Amino acid sequence: MERRIRKAVFPVGGLGTRFLPATKAMPKEMLPVVDKPLIQYAVEEAAAAGIEEFIFVTGRGKQAIEDHFDHSEELERALLARGRVRELEALKRWLPAPGAIAYTRQQEPLGLGHAVLCARHLVGEEPFTVLLADDLILSRTPTIGELVALHAKTGGNVVSVMEIAPAQASRYGIVAPGEDDGRVVEVSALVEKPDPADAPSNLAVVGRYVLQPEIFAHLEGLRAGHGGEIQLTDALTKMIGERPLHGVRLEGQRFDCGDRIGFLKANLCFALMREDLREETRRILEESLAGASGTDAKPSAKRATA
Ligand code: G1P
Repeated sequence: MERRIRKAVFPVGGLGTRFLPATKAMPKEMLPVVDKPLIQYAVEEAAAAGIEEFIFVTGRGKQAIEDHFDHSEELERALLARGRVRELEALKRWLPAPGAIAYTRQQEPLGLGHAVLCARHLVGEEPFTVLLADDLILSRTPTIGELVALHAKTGGNVVSVMEIAPAQASRYGIVAPGEDDGRVVEVSALVEKPDPADAPSNLAVVGRYVLQPEIFAHLEGLRAGHGGEIQLTDALTKMIGERPLHGVRLEGQRFDCGDRIGFLKANLCFALMREDLREETRRILEESLAGASGTDAKPSAKRATA
């Protein structure tokens, strides 16, 4: 009987160079989609799937993430003094339980596989999940929970997958598929960011994983792969034969928030789904598209700092 999955690893050490200058002094995982930072969406998804321990693999300049998942006494006092009890309660509601969060540092940016390896001692000898906050997923049930459910049946490694346009293969880990029932696909190999001409399929890995603890030994023995980095996909491929590897097709919508357009799209879609913002967002979009928004090309200093 497989052990219940309790832990999630969040690799958050990346530099976020695609979002400079926004990410010069702020972690990219703290970029908000509407009014919630990307990392909080990922943590909430994990919590909704029953995860109880949250392990962050951070890097230099990521302090804001630690502060975000902690009490802010000053802010809480100020909200209380102003009688804003609802906001105060909302802030406290999603704070993980005391001791449920751990941080470790990836001292060098050696790739996703290396980031996961950095969490080895905090994870220990049990299966665990990995969530990449850049991949924001909108779905009725938490995607990571679906992977956990499949893991309970297979006892192997599980990744989330989605179909992509063939030309985009070089942006993802790509699945070499085996048996496929339309929802769950057996994976016979993973290729990290292949040239589209060499891609074994158009099924790409999305940043959600359930991993067996043996992955650490494989990661440790790995040589640098694509881009000179230690790749998680390479370790997963090596483990096939020892443990099965399956992909679960993503149900719901995934936004690539590691990319500016994907991030903008996420903000628009999430705003359009919010009852308090929908009408106004729609109006602004319609006006902008009609070329009659009335806003300046350059925001005024007042608006920019509002
Ligand atoms: C990582 C993984 C890749 C996966 C992708 C999903 O790449 O290495 O296999 O398809 O996440 O977002 P990254 O986007 O971090 O370069």
